[in-house]
Amino acid sequence: MIVLGLETSCDETAVAIVNAATRQVLAQTVYVQKAEHRPYGGVVPELSARAHSQRLPELIRTTLADSQLPLSHLQAVAATVGPGLTTALTLGATMGKTLAMALNIPFLATNHIEGHALTPHLAVTPTSSGATHVEFPYLLMLLTGGHCQIVQVDDIGAYTLLGTTLDDAVGECFDKIGKLLGLPHPAGPAIEQLAKTGNPLAIPLAHPKRDATLDFSFSGLKSSTRDYLAKHPDAPKAELAASFQHTVATILARKLGLALQHTGATQAVAAGGVAANATIRAALLATCTQHGATFAAPPLALCTDNAVMIAYTAGLRAMAGLPNLGLASPVYPRWPLPAMNVPAAP
Ligand code: KG4
Ligand code: ZN
Repeated sequence: MIVLGLETSCDETAVAIVNAATRQVLAQTVYVQKAEHRPYGGVVPELSARAHSQRLPELIRTTLADSQLPLSHLQAVAATVGPGLTTALTLGATMGKTLAMALNIPFLATNHIEGHALTPHLAVTPTSSGATHVEFPYLLMLLTGGHCQIVQVDDIGAYTLLGTTLDDAVGECFDKIGKLLGLPHPAGPAIEQLAKTGNPLAIPLAHPKRDATLDFSFSGLKSSTRDYLAKHPDAPKAELAASFQHTVATILARKLGLALQHTGATQAVAAGGVAANATIRAALLATCTQHGATFAAPPLALCTDNAVMIAYTAGLRAMAGLPNLGLASPVYPRWPLPAMNVPAAP
């Protein structure tokens, strides 16, 4: 099942060709829109759509050339149709539908969050017994710019939400703290870089929702960081970045520990842009080791937004015979993961 995937939900323009049956990435390209949004301190939807429209044709051409596949070998075209920015999604979906019609192959409307959730299943992860794929079921820490969730993934289309953030997403929290520290958007990688020279235990910050539920909250951590900076305007930024990152890692690891206890899961994975953070990956791995569970996270380039996850997810669902709205699909600014569940047989 060879699928061409397009991703244009936010500020990455990405194209990939994946053989979903063999879990092989045949080619992939990503253009990260930084210069476009940087002057505004966040993503500007109209500028995002404009950059997708400008970049996508060339990325498709390059990806096809890199794959060395003739067009006739493509079996479907997939594009992200939600969740995301409406104009940006519309650009990718329309390009995908047009290509699929021209090639006379199916168009597969695909959910971006399901893409993140299934990436660990595609990626090869090094383990003590050699490199291996993660198989279902697994416990997923979904850590993106829009989400902070713990999800039980039993199979393709079998997702149970166990816990979620009550306020900010974890990536959003990184980005807001980055803004306070004067770092460029998106601030996750810059905070990680700055934190390398700071002491993670230097500044005690709030650890909200230290309770027995699997839900998260980050607003108290955000306020305590902001208050500290207001009272100590000359505080070394590296100490603050390291202490903030350490607190986030502690919060996430503690909830993962509870989830492992509640579910008895033996396999946990992290996915999404924030899963690229080495301190967070290390904290989650340590928790899994304590609970006798394995831990895996995709390679960094597959944590942040990419089209490999879109092509792979579309291919897996098609191989499982799941229905797809195809050319008739609208775009969905909101489209939660449990909406992708396969209805139980009557
Ligand atoms: O999954 P993603 O690429 O896009 C969404 O679907 O939201 O996640 C983007 C988020 C941003 O908030 C960004 O600051 C954060 O992931 N991020 C990181 C790192 N790399 C990206 N956060 C912490 N550490 C990183 N290394
Ligand atoms: Zn994403």
